[in-house]
Amino acid sequence: MDGRAAGRLILKGKVLSFTRRPTGVGDAGSYRYHPQGIVVIDGGVVTAVADAGAIDAHRTAGAVVEDHGDRLILPGLIDTHIHFPQTQVISSYGTQLLEWLAKYTFPAEMRYADPAFAAEKARFFLDELLRNGTTTAVVFGSSHLGAAEAFFAESERRNTLMVAGKTMMDRNAPDGLCDTAESGYRDTTALIRAWHRRGRQRVAVTPRFAITSSPAQMEAAGALAAENPDCLIQTHMSENRKEVAYAAELYPDRAGYLDVYDHYGLLGPRTLLGHSIHLRDDEIARMSEAEAVAVFCPTSNLFIGSGLFDHDRLERGEHPVRIGLATDVGGGTSYSMLRTAGEAYKVMQLRGQTLSALQAFDQMTRANAAAIGEEAAVGRIEPGLTADLVVLDARATPAMAHRMEAVDGDLEEELFVLMTMGDDRAVAATYVAGARVGG
Ligand code: GUN
Ligand code: ZN
Repeated sequence: MDGRAAGRLILKGKVLSFTRRPTGVGDAGSYRYHPQGIVVIDGGVVTAVADAGAIDAHRTAGAVVEDHGDRLILPGLIDTHIHFPQTQVISSYGTQLLEWLAKYTFPAEMRYADPAFAAEKARFFLDELLRNGTTTAVVFGSSHLGAAEAFFAESERRNTLMVAGKTMMDRNAPDGLCDTAESGYRDTTALIRAWHRRGRQRVAVTPRFAITSSPAQMEAAGALAAENPDCLIQTHMSENRKEVAYAAELYPDRAGYLDVYDHYGLLGPRTLLGHSIHLRDDEIARMSEAEAVAVFCPTSNLFIGSGLFDHDRLERGEHPVRIGLATDVGGGTSYSMLRTAGEAYKVMQLRGQTLSALQAFDQMTRANAAAIGEEAAVGRIEPGLTADLVVLDARATPAMAHRMEAVDGDLEEELFVLMTMGDDRAVAATYVAGARVGG
């Protein structure tokens, strides 16, 4: 699984990469597409993208050519919100957020106090992401420093670009899972010193949410954010109505849920706000002004019964808000960003909105990279960017192949089949910095 490609690698296939947000169906100016294309990779970096007819000009002595035929070569998919200690929480029956946390999630996360257990689960977690074509993720850890260290060690071994945090939580959870304002600060600082920007690893300041962080801990998280302006900040907000009411009760002096984070200096262009469903107009205006990111987690929002994310109110309203798309495993029910996009489409249908295939694939790649400030490194297939890539097969299952018989070479239809019917079975190969890691 590890190792970097040394010599030149040339991939052949249908090469697709977005250059800007698509306005909707048919926006051919939003992407570059080579129906018979090549991606040239040297030392893990893309050095050229061209039509396959030009391959001889790029075929140096010793170059390896991998032909993916009729399959699509895309930038590796990016998941902007997922929980590393919830691989055995996924598919937990019958509760909504606060009960779900207490009954299933907190007990499961307590086991990550053991770094050896955490290391084993980190291997599974990263295997599963890569199998699903996800090459970068923004990851909540457990509250244990050792588990976060084990996660980064495993990610470094695979050379994946991962953003992760030790979750800060000092109340309303079992003792074995709670840190304190001081230890949360100390452990996060230690994690940042050891791992932030070590190779491709990135540390995020990670207060779990207002309910499990005391005012003292929020202040400590604000201090971490101020001292480390280069780090992302990730948390949860306005996911569930009972949660919103409880947050207001716990922070009676604040104007609302968003204002808790704002007050403690946690709101800015590097802030990812998971869920962001039950928002007031003034909160949307403030998120827009702060350039914070609302993270849409459709499978989780449906499974835990949280609500319908109002995508177009955020993206196209008077005060536009940046958006990320994410699985939120283990509240979410699939590691697959294809499944996630398919469910996002359905949630938007229920709100009378629509998500074109172009928008969905741009979101999973370029736009999610922009949401996490990594657009110069990943999310597109362009010279100078890291060769994190996924190869997708729209004919991966009998039902998909049968459906594709009715598609006459139309790119958008093929993409829509992939996001509606595809999952890990549609991932033919995944490359991390030019090294094939699965599929
Ligand atoms: N809010 C606080 N913690 C969590 C979590 O682990 N999952 C989800 N979906 N929401 C949360
Ligand atoms: Zn979450």
